[in-house]
Amino acid sequence: MDIHWYPGHMTGAMRKMQEDIKLVDSVIELVDARIPFSSKNPDLDKLAANKKRIIIFNKADLADASVTEQWKKYYEEREFYVLTMDARNRKSTQAVTKAVQTVCAEKIERDKRRGIANRPIKAMVVGIPNVGKSTFINSYVGKASAKTGNKPGVTKGNQWIRISKNINLLDTPGVLWPKFENQTIALNIALIGSINDNILEISEISLKLIEYLQNYYCKELSDRYKLVDGDAYQVLCGIADEKKCVLKGGEPDIEKASKLLLDDFRSGRLGRITLERSDDINS
Ligand code: G4P
Repeated sequence: MDIHWYPGHMTGAMRKMQEDIKLVDSVIELVDARIPFSSKNPDLDKLAANKKRIIIFNKADLADASVTEQWKKYYEEREFYVLTMDARNRKSTQAVTKAVQTVCAEKIERDKRRGIANRPIKAMVVGIPNVGKSTFINSYVGKASAKTGNKPGVTKGNQWIRISKNINLLDTPGVLWPKFENQTIALNIALIGSINDNILEISEISLKLIEYLQNYYCKELSDRYKLVDGDAYQVLCGIADEKKCVLKGGEPDIEKASKLLLDDFRSGRLGRITLERSDDINS
């Protein structure tokens, strides 16, 4: 299976980001903590080369905490300021203020020396679809703040949001990149639900997920579905059996079992799972 998904509106969105990047001091990129490498947009490294960078590992509540720590180190060694977050929790979003002030400390000092008071730091918020960007912005903005544009998360264009007198955010739509060079990355992005399921072979990506779980999360797999032995297809048939996914003729309903497995993984019912390791990237 070859996974490709780059709907037309993303080209326009990326172009707008290229224009707007000039307006900001810093870029806040949300990635999914279950795939901190695959969900990070490679095009952004060029685009934001001269900007101060913050990475938010969102949905950290769904990821394997010890692996998250390794990824945090990986990006810190590469000069990123890293935060882990459950964006549904407003409290956890408040750490962003300190992060922005820390990465932009030089600029704040420079402004002070020049006698420029109250010039807010401007940060662009980016992330692939479904990474939790709207949830983050809504939590971070809270009720008290004034919005300079329309309601966050509703409109699709870039819009400024005033967080405080010190920080303005520029919201952008979720974009991917035109071509997935690496199909493991594409698969990971599909597994977390950032690619429209309708264009995917659900059973094929489920089989890949089972193979990964057998290697790294055997206990989680057996705790939920009992059966873990055999190849991935046998396990999927076992899940169909366990969860009563049966076709009229008595055959296992592979499609239904696949959806169920994906849903259990995506919602965290399968446990806290991370789909990639920083050691594998280095090797
Ligand atoms: P997007 O703007 O980047 O496309 O993502 P959005 O905020 O719409 O979030 C996508 C889904 O992820 C939502 O769930 C949202 O609640 C969930 N989510 C966002 N941040 C977190 C997080 O840190 N942890 C967890 N566990 N979930 C998070 P949904 O089921 O699609 O919608 P809803 O019914 O929750 O509103």
